Amino acid sequence: KMQVVKHISDLQTILNIKREEGLKIGFVPTMGALHEGHLSLVMIAGEQSNFVVVSIFVNPTQFNDKGDLDRYPRDLQKDVDLLSTSACQLIFAPEPEEIYPEPDTRQFNFGQLEQVMEGKFRPGHFNGVAQVVSRLFDIVQPDKAFFGQKDFQQLAIINEMVRKFNLPVEIVSCPIIRETNGLAMSSRNMLLSPEQRLNAVHISATLFEAANKTGELSVEELCEWVINRINKNEFLNTEYFEIVNEMTLLPVKSWDENCKKFGCIAVHCGKIRLIDNMEFGVR
Ligand code: PAJ
Repeated sequence: KMQVVKHISDLQTILNIKREEGLKIGFVPTMGALHEGHLSLVMIAGEQSNFVVVSIFVNPTQFNDKGDLDRYPRDLQKDVDLLSTSACQLIFAPEPEEIYPEPDTRQFNFGQLEQVMEGKFRPGHFNGVAQVVSRLFDIVQPDKAFFGQKDFQQLAIINEMVRKFNLPVEIVSCPIIRETNGLAMSSRNMLLSPEQRLNAVHISATLFEAANKTGELSVEELCEWVINRINKNEFLNTEYFEIVNEMTLLPVKSWDENCKKFGCIAVHCGKIRLIDNMEFGVR
């Protein structure tokens, strides 16, 4: 039966027993307001480990925009209900004081990985992500941790953190889950009005269309094409769209570059900021 704990000490009592039993711990960090995207991570965690822990914690240090933090949807009971029929065996839902008994002043440096895209438009965001994820790894000590490709740059940062500090955890990257209309699932989608939500479909639709045009247009032309097309929709305003090298996250100049390429986008829909990404240039 699934348990819910709020305190580190309770969590560790349970996990110490599981580890002694020889179970491999799988960990899925989340900020709650769970949807099918999160549940797919939990399912993969269940397939690849013996005991699945999900954390639900809206981490204040990663919000560069106070309004975004205040608006962020929170419904623990609903999340518990959703997880009760999943592979999750333990929910860790701490209060902020539990994670940050004193302010976290650590400054991470991920070089260019944090200077582009999300890092550029959300200063401090990835420092906060690194703070909370490193704290959570310390607390849970998972064998494997599961992250979604929806947050493409976050995954790159987490992989870099694990490499740089030799953290004893294996990071597993999991595919983006979309609604049947193509919209990438996100906790922030529930903040959209019905009308905004209909128009937000235009983001992924444009990316899918663009990903099929790599033979016709140069990288630069295609980027312009995407931005113009999305901005023609009166509900949408593109913050950036870049086609980047999967490893360096730097923009590619030509389709000939020998690397996997991802088109990454952030779009404002009213007050709500949405991100998505897709592989480009696969023939
Ligand atoms: P959150 O946005 O709740 O996402 C938790 C995990 O679910 C992340 O790994 C994210 O990439 C994944 N996810 C979200 N939507 C997805 C989708 N449509 N398909 C597949 N995976 C999806 O990301 C965070 O929380 C936080 O930054 C966190 C890592 C928990 C640190 O606070």
